[in-house]
Amino acid sequence: MRICCIGAGYVGGPTMAMIAAKCPHIRVDVVDLNADRIAAWNSDHLPIYEPGLDELVVQARGKNLFFSTAVKESIHAADIIFVSVNTPTKTFGVGAHKAADLRFVESVARTIAEVADSPKIIVEKSTIPVRTAEAIKTILSCSEKGVRHQVLSNPEFLAEGTAVADLSNPDRILIGGEQTEEGLAAVEKLVSVYANWVPKERILTTNLWSSELSKLVANAFLAQRISSINSISALCEKTGADVDEVARAIGTDSRIGPKFLKASVGFGGSCFQKDVLNLVYLCGHFGLAEVGAYWDQVIKMNDWQKHRFAERVLRTLFNTVTGKRIAILGFAFKKDTNDTRESAAIYVCRDLLEERAQLSIYDPKVTTSQICKDLGIAADDSTVEFAPSAMHAAKGAYALLVLTEWDEFRQLDFEAIYQTMPKPAWIFDGRSLLDHKKLRSIGFNVYSIGKPLLEDHVS
Ligand SMILES: NC(=O)c1ccc[n+]([C@@H]2O[C@H](COP(=O)([O-])OP(=O)(O)OC[C@H]3O[C@@H](n4cnc5c(N)ncnc54)[C@H](O)[C@@H]3O)[C@@H](O)[C@H]2O)c1
Repeated sequence: MRICCIGAGYVGGPTMAMIAAKCPHIRVDVVDLNADRIAAWNSDHLPIYEPGLDELVVQARGKNLFFSTAVKESIHAADIIFVSVNTPTKTFGVGAHKAADLRFVESVARTIAEVADSPKIIVEKSTIPVRTAEAIKTILSCSEKGVRHQVLSNPEFLAEGTAVADLSNPDRILIGGEQTEEGLAAVEKLVSVYANWVPKERILTTNLWSSELSKLVANAFLAQRISSINSISALCEKTGADVDEVARAIGTDSRIGPKFLKASVGFGGSCFQKDVLNLVYLCGHFGLAEVGAYWDQVIKMNDWQKHRFAERVLRTLFNTVTGKRIAILGFAFKKDTNDTRESAAIYVCRDLLEERAQLSIYDPKVTTSQICKDLGIAADDSTVEFAPSAMHAAKGAYALLVLTEWDEFRQLDFEAIYQTMPKPAWIFDGRSLLDHKKLRSIGFNVYSIGKPLLEDHVS
């Protein structure tokens, strides 16, 4: 059997590396139009950082895992074709800032229609609006080659930062297909690939539309939990309650459960916002305005939380940060990834730059050029400094903002850092990561989302 995956990104690369490693009898070709990205997949410096990914790729690359730009040749030779291209939020025209931009998916469907002269199983791995398979099938059916292909939905549930562990031991694999003899046979063929390492009872099969919709719904529910606890974090700050204590108290209720109840400066990543907006758009499209408004609030709450954090910094630093050095610890949207898409740090930094702060930014994995791109600044912009360590970033800063929960930030020598900062020295912990009592005993004033302030009271 030969598998081809179109799109060598955060999903295509790790997912195919796992299939290749677990199925040595299957040849896996990962193809992309982006030659630089493919070159990086073939080098010692993979284009994405994920714990355990280097080892996984090295294990299979050149044996049964190949990265190339040979899109058409790989489609032609494959039995199963995964479509794992980007589906960003549309920025123009009808549905701007809500609907998914499906031009990459459509272009792949047209290439398959043009090239494939034998029946293929085409697998939607990208997250797409419900009923996209219908559009793909229509395009394929217009092919002059006269072959019938099957389209399956197999959304990916991996989380960046834990992608390898998630792929190796998934909660479930979801496969949707047409409820016809050919459709069910195609589903079984894909099931047989995953069954090489995933227990059968964790492989769920459904109709096409349930599978497509379930991915959007899963992300909406996850994002909703974060916005829910973040909304409560604001109420905690007004009332003296501690959001971590509230989260523990409600999370021990087995009906609620403890996961995704961590208050923070806001969720980021390429998926949550995009997928919830997509759901909102779909609700509008199907005339369900109230349902759309309900989910839209998840995004509004997240936006508010990011701005609320920046405002809090401004207010605390005597309502002015103009010319003040502020250390930013962490720029990735979460720990253990170099991905910054929709990172809360982007929004907080932009708000502070608007107030003319001087930022010193440190992240262990994000490149300087990526930060410049995200903030829309030149590499020699005098308002931002890129520090080689957290210690360097903090030196001379009025405040230290923790925006990503990197483990290394817990281990910092805060006594030494305190000595290098003007007083009063502030820590704003946007991830509730640090030992606040200890920081207070060193002399810091500490603000952590959803917790009582720890500060000097001037009488
Ligand atoms: N990143 C995640 O954590 C995650 C998790 C689950 C699902 N998803 C979904 O998976 C999909 C891919 O996400 P990603 O983060 O891997 O995106 P990505 O932007 O990292 O990668 C997509 C790749 O597709 C390539 N591409 C686009 N059009 C192409 C074409 N016509 N031919 C060949 N290559 C083409 C791009 O060059 C790019 O390298 C999206 O729909 C996303 O919503 C992402």
